[in-house]
Amino acid sequence: MPYSIDLSGNVAIVTGGVTGLGLAITAILAGAGAQVVMDDIITPEDATPFLEVLSSCDPVPVHLRYDIGGEEECKALVAETVSRFGRVDIVVNNAAIARKPWHKVFDVNVLAQFYLNSAACEDMKKRQYGKIVNVTTSGVASGGGDGIEYNATKGAADSMTRYLGKRYARDGVNVNAVAPGPTLTDMMRGYYGEEKFHDHYLPTMPIGRVLIPEDLAKVVLFLCSPLSDAVCGESILADGGRARLNPA
Ligand SMILES: NC(=O)c1ccc[n+]([C@@H]2O[C@H](COP(=O)([O-])OP(=O)(O)OC[C@H]3O[C@@H](n4cnc5c(N)ncnc54)[C@H](O)[C@@H]3O)[C@@H](O)[C@H]2O)c1
Repeated sequence: MPYSIDLSGNVAIVTGGVTGLGLAITAILAGAGAQVVMDDIITPEDATPFLEVLSSCDPVPVHLRYDIGGEEECKALVAETVSRFGRVDIVVNNAAIARKPWHKVFDVNVLAQFYLNSAACEDMKKRQYGKIVNVTTSGVASGGGDGIEYNATKGAADSMTRYLGKRYARDGVNVNAVAPGPTLTDMMRGYYGEEKFHDHYLPTMPIGRVLIPEDLAKVVLFLCSPLSDAVCGESILADGGRARLNPA
């Protein structure tokens, strides 16, 4: 029997949804028919080129600018989404920061996921249906290299995924995580340059190529769709086998 993913009628929040992996996630969910609300602190001016890429989507994703580093902002993001679009069916907790004071990294990488998950679940429970994806990092499996506060908070988000997965399973809400490996985003291009990124990571990639944002977006799409109904409290390592299979 052929399967396809149709998210028409679904309303999705993607945090950090305007750039990097978030942009690919927004694009793939919108391409499947979901109304996407991209939350991102990026300024409207800086967001313009990214929003142009999405302008042909139907429905067109909407950009909101709540700073999810605070509880009230997280609640307000869910409240505005429900008030404008009537519901929230999907939350992708993608925004993250690194190399800042511990408490700030914890606020964005862990507490924001908790506040958004909790607020969204209150709406999802009414329909006994919802999909939540917490984006972590393959560093939770490999030890990581992006700073202790980044890796430790991602580990907390990974653990919280199982806790919340259990808490909301009977409400029809699947809470899962995706743990991406190093991915060639614009930020990585700027940081390394494309050639250096390849030189650095390609030898460590069992699949023989580096990851691009669409690789991760496809895994997120699966977890946001009814195809993943049986997956609950799970973390999918989406790193091309690097953490588990790389012999280096
Ligand atoms: N890029 C990679 O190689 C890689 C690898 C492993 C995990 N990840 C994870 O994937 C996710 C996306 O990574 P990325 O590389 O695309 O990140 P990025 O830094 O390029 O983008 C993050 C986005 O989040 C937004 N943001 C940051 N703080 C915010 C806040 N307080 N409120 C609202 N928006 C905020 C930023 O404006 C930005 O648009 C993150 O969770 C990251 O930890 C990325």
